[in-house]
Amino acid sequence: MSETGYPTTRMRRLRSCDFIRRMVSESNLTPADFIQPIFVCEGENYREPIASMPGIDRLSIDLLIEKSRKLRDLGIPAIAVFPVVSKSKKTKWAEESYNPDGLAQRAISAVRESVPEIGVMADVALDPFTIDGHDGISNEDGYVENDVTIDVIVKQALSQARAGVQIIAPSEMMDGRVGAIRQALESEGFHNVLILSYAVKYASAFYGPFRDAVGSASELGGRDKRTYQMDPANSNEAIREVALDLAEGADMVIVKPGLPYLDVVRRVKSEFNVPTFAYQVSGEYAMLMAAIQNGWLDERKVIIETLSAFKRAGGDGVLSYFSERAAEWIA
Ligand code: PBG
Repeated sequence: MSETGYPTTRMRRLRSCDFIRRMVSESNLTPADFIQPIFVCEGENYREPIASMPGIDRLSIDLLIEKSRKLRDLGIPAIAVFPVVSKSKKTKWAEESYNPDGLAQRAISAVRESVPEIGVMADVALDPFTIDGHDGISNEDGYVENDVTIDVIVKQALSQARAGVQIIAPSEMMDGRVGAIRQALESEGFHNVLILSYAVKYASAFYGPFRDAVGSASELGGRDKRTYQMDPANSNEAIREVALDLAEGADMVIVKPGLPYLDVVRRVKSEFNVPTFAYQVSGEYAMLMAAIQNGWLDERKVIIETLSAFKRAGGDGVLSYFSERAAEWIA
């Protein structure tokens, strides 16, 4: 493409007033771009604030239903439920993860029954259920065992499918898990249960507030997840991860965290052309909220700007704790 120079070309003509800016805008946010993550806890008419995530509460199932109705009315297509499990239910083998009466399973079926128009997604990972806060089952040396973990998460995925979940999101980064889950779903006739794989999940410091929210931070202590989550320095590895998950039966993929990894979103989208989502994680939320609450950043402008960036980078949508607020503004 050749550009004629100034003054034949004046880039500012295309920015000179609102109508033309809207006309040439290259990406557009709509409520259908959002998935709202929600923390679910036991209780009735009970909400509990999360200190490091101002504006986000843990919700009991009845309030989750209320929230789901509101999100549906805003045009948000899906929610992601994250159970906050009491310490007494956490074990070495994470049995609670596949309890048909577990909190996650009850939350899934309650929303499916009461708000059938909204999609329900759930994480497959054991961190809310293990005594050491790891996403999988650890051996005596503290190493998270791949194949042992897969046996458990397959049970977890099936129990979620039986509860009515429509999107299963494996987030524990075990090798071969997408294939194992897909095979199990097929064998029980769940042909249309979607797998939205956290194909590209980095060992990130930005998950801190989430671990407070679900209460896995104290179990994890000072340990990290670097033997299964990806090194933030890598992006070729991201391409291999996505290729494997697609080959194993993932329908869509997530890149996580979001804003610090937009280059990866772009690479994944260009390489595979599959539905690609970014997760604007808890630490990104906390960081923005801290500045917003100090009056250092303008809430509405900065949130819309970050969400638009995911679309510009090629993302098909975003999991964000700002989803509800952003959809309200867009409406
Ligand atoms: C659990 C899981 C995590 C997040 C989503 N699922 C935390 C982790 O891997 O430690 C993080 C989400 C967020 O920070 O908002 N496997």
